[in-house]
Amino acid sequence: MLNPRLPAIWYGADYNPEQWPEAVWAEDVRLIQRAAMNCATIGVFSWVLLQPGPDRWDFGWFDRVIEGLAGGGLSVILATPTAAPPAWLCRAHPEILPVDAGGRRLWWGSRRHYCPNSPAYREAAREIACRLAERYGAHPSVVLWHIDNEYGKVCYCDQCATAFRSWLQDRYGSLPALNDAWRTAFWSQAYDDWEEILPPRATPSFHNPGQVLDFRRFVSDSYLGCFLEQKAVIRDHSPQVPVTTNFMGWFKGADYWSWAPHLDVISWDSYPPPGAPPYLPAAWHDLMRSLKRQPFLLMEQSPSQVNWMPCNRPHPPGALRLQSMQTLARGADGICYFQFRQSSGGPEQFHAGIVPHAGAERSRVFAEVAELGAQLHSLGSRTTGAEIRARVAIVFDWASWWAMEQPPMITAELSYREEILRYYRAFWSLNVAVDFVRPTDPLDRYAMVVAPVLRIVTEEIAGNFERFVRGGGALLLTFGSGLTDGNDRAHLGGYPGLLRELFGIWIEELDPLCDDAAEQAGGTVGECTCRRWCDAIHLEGATALATYRSGFCAGLPAITEHRCGEGKALYIGTAPDDAALAALLAGYAAPLDITAPLQVPSGVEAVQRWSGGQPLTWVLNHTRDEATIRLPEPVRDLLTGRDLAGDVQLASQDALLLGSLED
Ligand code: GLA
Ligand code: ZN
Repeated sequence: MLNPRLPAIWYGADYNPEQWPEAVWAEDVRLIQRAAMNCATIGVFSWVLLQPGPDRWDFGWFDRVIEGLAGGGLSVILATPTAAPPAWLCRAHPEILPVDAGGRRLWWGSRRHYCPNSPAYREAAREIACRLAERYGAHPSVVLWHIDNEYGKVCYCDQCATAFRSWLQDRYGSLPALNDAWRTAFWSQAYDDWEEILPPRATPSFHNPGQVLDFRRFVSDSYLGCFLEQKAVIRDHSPQVPVTTNFMGWFKGADYWSWAPHLDVISWDSYPPPGAPPYLPAAWHDLMRSLKRQPFLLMEQSPSQVNWMPCNRPHPPGALRLQSMQTLARGADGICYFQFRQSSGGPEQFHAGIVPHAGAERSRVFAEVAELGAQLHSLGSRTTGAEIRARVAIVFDWASWWAMEQPPMITAELSYREEILRYYRAFWSLNVAVDFVRPTDPLDRYAMVVAPVLRIVTEEIAGNFERFVRGGGALLLTFGSGLTDGNDRAHLGGYPGLLRELFGIWIEELDPLCDDAAEQAGGTVGECTCRRWCDAIHLEGATALATYRSGFCAGLPAITEHRCGEGKALYIGTAPDDAALAALLAGYAAPLDITAPLQVPSGVEAVQRWSGGQPLTWVLNHTRDEATIRLPEPVRDLLTGRDLAGDVQLASQDALLLGSLED
């Protein structure tokens, strides 16, 4: 449960009433109620109106907004407005403004125009968070703190340089240790004075990869520092109310694993592009749920158009409901939108709102939002807190992501996200539930763990993997793994470095395939088309399951298996085509009893959550056609209250939520 004060499914929106005359506010509350919502997020960008000048505060209007919502029985998600510092603050302290890699200062007039390491910014942010917490922290309608908004832009200013140096001093202790970690002996990069070290600003040629990797870690930690400072002052005045900030899914700018323990609730913003395949948002949600292995809150989705996409298309009828049902199925206990009333001007005026420019009365979007609200309301607390029981995990590691895509690359055509999705998609099409994990997490709850392109492997990771396999787990590793250590320095003696023995192989050469080039491989696991990359593998105890039939690596193993202790270590030295991969994974999953909750036709998604020992199964028809769902036993559709048995027809874009007949 996200907060016992609001025990139902959370349903709400970013609500920015400061854009409208007060006369509209009462109508807004009525419309929020009509949409069957129970909460609203306020204050996200309200800094200048709450603090019009250095010592000027105006909470009167905000009091009235909160009282209006509370009076309408609505709960409040209270944001700190620190993502958009007012112009007066930037003028008084220009050092607040961020600086890009080329040394250009970025100006106010938009948002996110601050340096996370600016002491003046941090002090001002703490102060407004403190004032808000003092004033509203004990308000009975406040159910969640939403700190800042979408943390994560990069600044390269002198304040960041100073903070980076002290972060590095903490990490390495001495300059010789840093020089060794970054291998600065080459290209005359060695440092003799901490003051010589800079953020990776614009340079004529490639950066030092160790420096860039550490700077990415530092940027993530810098924003986490901003978050923790605000959280601390909020806690002082509002100890009962949970705290979050809105994440951005598979966002490269911050290592969310390191943030997750500091958030009481994971919340995030999901904006799938029009026509996105359904496994894509599913994968995003699964990572967000996995961060704490707890239900999450979808803080933002668009009710329709998204103005920052290259082509601003509306959601077709029914898409919003299906997308929202998928979000619940994947572990959400709440769904909110950006934003309630569409702006009448300003930067987001053509971003959809629940109340569009044409008005709520004759709006398809408003009607769809309200209909969904009524359906969620009717579920009460039936689905909240329900857990997903995954027996498969995919390793998602920010450090490997950063290192793999940092120029100069082994291949610029490799996308870390795409390789993760290749495996995710295979499990999605089998309707097998997947958690994401970090490589150092305990793995014993899983039967199978997949680590795609895990470039960075430390002693700790190697030990963790070995324990998992020896204990009976099936571990799958792919090409591009075990190349480097925690500082992105190459492992010597053959890849995958510290995992050579566990996998019973060594890799001599790496052959990335350019463009759409393909090679063939085949063996006991069947035939497979290989793209993207071929590893030149040599066996040292493992068995070849497939051998390259063509290309630079012809005759060498492409897929290998090594039995070790009770478990198996499977290595895939290429990116196999989807069909071959699905067959391979299905072959491994079956003996491990990794199964789908329900057999459904292709393009239909079946996901299960468990509540009080009882399964709840969502069935989502993403296809353009009606689908026949074969039910092995009689069940109740909790969305309609109908009892179902045998073959059931499910319309395109429609969903079922199957519970027991006693529900
Ligand atoms: C982001 C922001 C919101 C808004 C939406 C629009 O998620 O958090 O303030 O700009 O995008 O899609
Ligand atoms: Zn800075």
